[in-house]
Amino acid sequence: MDISQISEKLSEAGQHHVLQFWQELSAAEQSEMFHDLESMNFKEINHFFHNAMKVSSHGHQEKIDERMGPVPREVLGSVTRDKEMLREWEEEGLLQISQSKVAVLLLAGGQGTRLGVSYPKGMYDVGLPSHKTLFQIQAERILKLESLAKERFKKKCCIPWYIMTSGRTMESTKEFFEQHGYFGLNKNNVIFFQQGMLPAMTFEGKLILERKGKVSMAPDGNGGLYRALGSQKIVDDMETRGIGHIHVYCVDNILVKVADPSFIGFCIKKKADCGAKVVEKTNPTEPVGVVCKVDGRYQVVEYSEITLATAEKRSADGRLMFNAGNICNHFFSMAFLKNIVQIYEPQLQHHVAQKKIPYVDAQGQLIKPDKPNGIKMEKFVFDIFQFAKTFVVFEVLREDEFSPLKNADSQDGKDNPTTARHALMSLHHRWVLNAGGHFIDENGTRIPAIPSSRSGPAATGISNVNQNLKDVTDLPIKCEISPLVSYAGESLEFIKDHEFRSPLIVDEKGIHEMVKNGV
Ligand code: UTP
Repeated sequence: MDISQISEKLSEAGQHHVLQFWQELSAAEQSEMFHDLESMNFKEINHFFHNAMKVSSHGHQEKIDERMGPVPREVLGSVTRDKEMLREWEEEGLLQISQSKVAVLLLAGGQGTRLGVSYPKGMYDVGLPSHKTLFQIQAERILKLESLAKERFKKKCCIPWYIMTSGRTMESTKEFFEQHGYFGLNKNNVIFFQQGMLPAMTFEGKLILERKGKVSMAPDGNGGLYRALGSQKIVDDMETRGIGHIHVYCVDNILVKVADPSFIGFCIKKKADCGAKVVEKTNPTEPVGVVCKVDGRYQVVEYSEITLATAEKRSADGRLMFNAGNICNHFFSMAFLKNIVQIYEPQLQHHVAQKKIPYVDAQGQLIKPDKPNGIKMEKFVFDIFQFAKTFVVFEVLREDEFSPLKNADSQDGKDNPTTARHALMSLHHRWVLNAGGHFIDENGTRIPAIPSSRSGPAATGISNVNQNLKDVTDLPIKCEISPLVSYAGESLEFIKDHEFRSPLIVDEKGIHEMVKNGV
């Protein structure tokens, strides 16, 4: 193809303005632009735009309250309401892991605009005593789980880690893993792949130039996963490895239980093809999507799509009726994922996100708009719930499992490095208390706390730690336990009856900062 052919295609698609500065570009810039444009299908992009705008304007007109129904109890598993089942679910999950049938899939293609760093979010250090990054924490949880499964079933196993990146995060992510020796994981079991990108468009459907020689591009949303799984032959790789179950999650949740055996076991025991982990939404106006039924099919409904009256509805037990807060943490059976990739993916429509998109105007000046001037098109990972034949929901405790890193630090801010760091240290503080350890202040006086009453160990103790524990409010106690030591609060018997002063680090080399043995 040469530039005249691209020019023709652009004209046919009503996008010829993209080449308005072509003559002013250097040879290198022309070559870069040619390379970018060559791979784009302008007619398909126009088609995506029209469909997305149609769905979006339709969505704004009508609330869907009337068609909504809550998650029925029979498809719901809960770490607080089904305690007696946790041991069985966990055992099943560990068994599958020990047979190397479980894979994890990380969504790490986002741009992290709100956090505002120029590198991938997984490389972020929230300031823990160890200064581990999100990638390292997740890698170590995988390592620990492999060893727990091996211990339990006497079988060496592996949990392949599929990492979806985008054009903007691929190279730096790979480099980071290389530099850190894959954090101890076998390199062959860490598989990177890249999601697609789509151009940003004006509200009139015109491609936007971010420079004279560059169309503004953005990743096609975390639901771009399904197209990428097919085009990059990842599903084939999973099949070759004999994977049966896949755990999908977001990079930004510092508390994520990667390949959580209880969740996986629950989904398998329920013969689910698709499952969503949720946390209870307790405040009607919290801006979180809820998992519910719409016209009898499962879906995530955003807070903006329903009326306040519906958001405030309560069930007989006093909980919000629509309280299954989506945390982007999902289970797929291999057969389901394959069907999605091979059959259903093209049926998914893009969603429209209005954004402030920097652009060059007709005079070639760079403009940074102060209000939204265009859209980005995205698919969402949960768009495929509607195709599930057996869908289940697993409710977990927010303080144990969900603290996303979305924003930069600011006073009274939410979901930022400080809240993420505190959430992890608070959880680990509670693990210490549950294991019978204590914290003392500078005078040697024990810091009061309300420990959990444990109800007997599960297979490894992974799922029943913390169940009855009230939140520990006297933060910040600096306490960090390496995932290589404990995946979810288990294996900490050795700290029973010890006293510690903050900061405490427990890692594979031992206990650091411990001030006194025994009481
Ligand atoms: P968010 O929607 O929070 O987006 O992504 P983000 O890119 O991290 O942050 P902002 O909105 O730009 O501030 C939720 C999860 O989905 C992934 C992200 O990496 C994160 O794990 N994601 C998002 C993708 O993998 N691809 C995308 O195109 C978008």
